Amino acid sequence: MIGMSTAASSSLTSSAAPELRNAGGKSPAEVREMFGRVARRYDFLNHLLSLGLDFTWRRRLARELEGLESGAWLADICTGTGDVAFAAKKRVPGLRVLALDFTPEMVAYGPRKAARKGVGGIVFGIGDALRLPLSDASAAASSVSFGIRNVGDLERGLRELARVVRPGGKVLVLEFTKPCGRMFGPLYMGYLKYVLPVVAKLIAFAAGDAYRYLPSSIQAFAGPEEMKQRMEAIGLKDVQAVPLTFGTVHLYVGSKAN
Ligand SMILES: C[S@@+](CC[C@H](N)C(=O)[O-])C[C@H]1O[C@@H](n2cnc3c(N)ncnc32)[C@H](O)[C@@H]1O
Repeated sequence: MIGMSTAASSSLTSSAAPELRNAGGKSPAEVREMFGRVARRYDFLNHLLSLGLDFTWRRRLARELEGLESGAWLADICTGTGDVAFAAKKRVPGLRVLALDFTPEMVAYGPRKAARKGVGGIVFGIGDALRLPLSDASAAASSVSFGIRNVGDLERGLRELARVVRPGGKVLVLEFTKPCGRMFGPLYMGYLKYVLPVVAKLIAFAAGDAYRYLPSSIQAFAGPEEMKQRMEAIGLKDVQAVPLTFGTVHLYVGSKAN
């Protein structure tokens, strides 16, 4: 099993400090409560509202894992219902994945999906991105997809992702970004602000709040240049920001120094 830190058992049920606020202004408790409410409809809404593009974004992340040896561990943080874990297993079948999230209702879908898909080698668990229950350098790579924007302390979240990776290993971050462009930027933000919450609310009443929070948190969150700088500032090397779908999403790739 991937090295669990001595704090593992307590971290598995702990939460981050209540005074923390993320880019969208929500505390960890509010984030957990929001995703708890939306969990049942999360996958359906995600695929529908992104027009299926979310699959291609996660596949692009998984490509970065090619070449990892069989039996190597990926730590996927803020895993939600585990879609990055599944994309990673598809790309590198010999990989083992520790898939952690601090919302029990979200992560509960992981094992059910694994059973339905007939996929093994993924361990799902409860874990806080700001206090990962993992030993230093215990994973071959770490990933977070559409999760880092939600954590209450970006720097600490990035440091944790880097801490658990072995020297030379990759830290992969997939996140929404505010697109530039005089026409496309406002059009896209309009879709996020006015269309998405209404559709989400029509399909699942409880999801309306989550999809109002989405555009405000994207607007307040770090852009590609800042994210690159922040990853470099914590010691990651060769950091790249790869724009996807007209820059509405970026994949950030960094390597831990040897
Ligand atoms: C938008 S979902 C992304 C889920 C999945 N990674 C994906 O690509 O669909 C964000 C997830 O981050 C989780 N999350 C937010 N803050 C967290 C934290 N501090 N520790 C662990 N998980 C967190 C939420 O519970 C939620 O499941």
